[in-house]
Amino acid sequence: MTTDAKIEMLLEKRTQGQLGGGEERIQRQHEAGRNTARERINLLLDPGTFREVDAFIEHRSINFGMDKKKFMGDSVVTGWGTIDGRLVYVYSQDFTVLGGSVGHVHAEKILKIMEMAMKTGAPIIGLNDSGGARIQEGVDALAGYADIFLQNTMASGVIPQISVIMGPCAGGAVYSPALTDYTIMVRNTSYMFITGPNVVKQVLNEDVTFDELGGADVHASKSGACHLVGEDETEALLLVRELLSYLPQNNMEDPPYHATTDDPLRGDDSLNTIVPDDPTKPYDIKTIIEKVVDDGHFFEVHENYAGNIVVGYARLGGQAIGIVANQPMVLAGVLDIEASQKAARFVRTCDAFNIPIVTFVDVPGYMPGKEQEHAGIIRSGAKLLFAYCEATVPKLTVTTRKSYGGAYCVMSSKHLRGDLNLAWPTAEIAVMGPEGAVEIINRRELSEAEDPVSKKKELADEYRATFAHPYIAASRGYVDDVIIPSETRARLINALQVFANKRDDNPPKKHGNIPL
Ligand code: HXC
Repeated sequence: MTTDAKIEMLLEKRTQGQLGGGEERIQRQHEAGRNTARERINLLLDPGTFREVDAFIEHRSINFGMDKKKFMGDSVVTGWGTIDGRLVYVYSQDFTVLGGSVGHVHAEKILKIMEMAMKTGAPIIGLNDSGGARIQEGVDALAGYADIFLQNTMASGVIPQISVIMGPCAGGAVYSPALTDYTIMVRNTSYMFITGPNVVKQVLNEDVTFDELGGADVHASKSGACHLVGEDETEALLLVRELLSYLPQNNMEDPPYHATTDDPLRGDDSLNTIVPDDPTKPYDIKTIIEKVVDDGHFFEVHENYAGNIVVGYARLGGQAIGIVANQPMVLAGVLDIEASQKAARFVRTCDAFNIPIVTFVDVPGYMPGKEQEHAGIIRSGAKLLFAYCEATVPKLTVTTRKSYGGAYCVMSSKHLRGDLNLAWPTAEIAVMGPEGAVEIINRRELSEAEDPVSKKKELADEYRATFAHPYIAASRGYVDDVIIPSETRARLINALQVFANKRDDNPPKKHGNIPL
């Protein structure tokens, strides 16, 4: 065979490989409103940068006639490319080949590029679209999954791992996305569940649709298993690109710096009046965040889950930061189980990847009640406490209004190695709010009062004047400075520069025992 013929043969093979499960299945994929595995990679990466590996690989299974059902590359496309010029690894399950099912070779392909990602210290992105474990391969398929779970766990905290769910993700398959840092879903065309609607019907005799059981909105708002939702596949993949812009390549690097024209000294006088005079009136903490950060741009994650706490990324003076903020607009910003878990996970993600944390505090306390107590607010509240205590990245805190009780301690207080704790003049830092406090410390006086309502108001006003301000905390050094709100941006940017190289250490240990 001539060299020309050999090259011709290679090109033919490549063309064949590009077709995955064939034209008909590709058409079916498109009709279902989904792109193919390769189209998705092209949408995700910088144009022309994808380099495929293992395009010629085939599965080795012979059971159930599988020796006659072989496809080049098996049912997943793997390789590397760049996003905004930065190296990333990607695997994209090909539903047109055996339903994207995970056999042993499919798993080996994923593992190979995960290992490359670990060796070279670059993020890995998984585009999931699969019928799950390849039934014909039995335990070999399960072994492949378990190998991926182990590698996900080893990579956790070393390189960013992002999962995008772009079709079915069923059974144990959901545990790879669950082990990664972020899960992004596509509205209406993706779903995740441990057991599907058929099994639910058989076991519980309940009728439920795929979407009701495990669609994007369910996981983004109820289970919390999904961090971001794209309206369509293109939007979901753009979310991956933006998310990565805040993350470093690995745990040994800092997040990338993005030059900005937004003046670091920019003051915003509207911040001075944003907190209402009436302490029971809500305001939107996101407005404050947007007025402070570069170009008013806040990339919120987990937006529809536990709205009483807000988490996400932004930049200050070009430096990526993670923001945690109580949201007075939802449940008065109270800390409950879901809010604690959401924020704890976010704090740990930032800490793992060297992203400074800015915390905005306006919290009336932990959520009271039988439901929360019985569901484990003690255990879950401790997760957030643990996460803040353990974090060694720069921690900057701005108390805008309430900071009461245990929630004061938890929300990145000075006592948890807060590096700079600022308070606005509107801050109220005490064991509890005035109304609740006087009910306890003035119980007898109130029960004997001729007019208990006006007595309570009088006592509460006295308590407010004594405690509901930032100056006692500042006199103890628990608050480093009380600032005019309009100065917030300039003060935070200065502090990020000051604490950029700060070092906090935790004692040597195998690992801490975060309450799970
Ligand atoms: C082998 C599979 C497969 C699987 C789908 N296919 N799932 N082949 N193993 N798990 C094949 C189908 O036979 C079909 O092949 C092609 O993929 C497309 O599937 P369809 O059913 O025609 O597509 P659709 O109607 O869109 O339905 C998609 C689906 C359904 C809902 C995902 O295929 C399905 O329910 N699959 C099984 C899901 C499941 O229970 N998986 C196991 C979960 S347990 P042809 O040749 O006809 O095109 C699990 C354990 C992991 O994953 C454990 C880890 C610890």
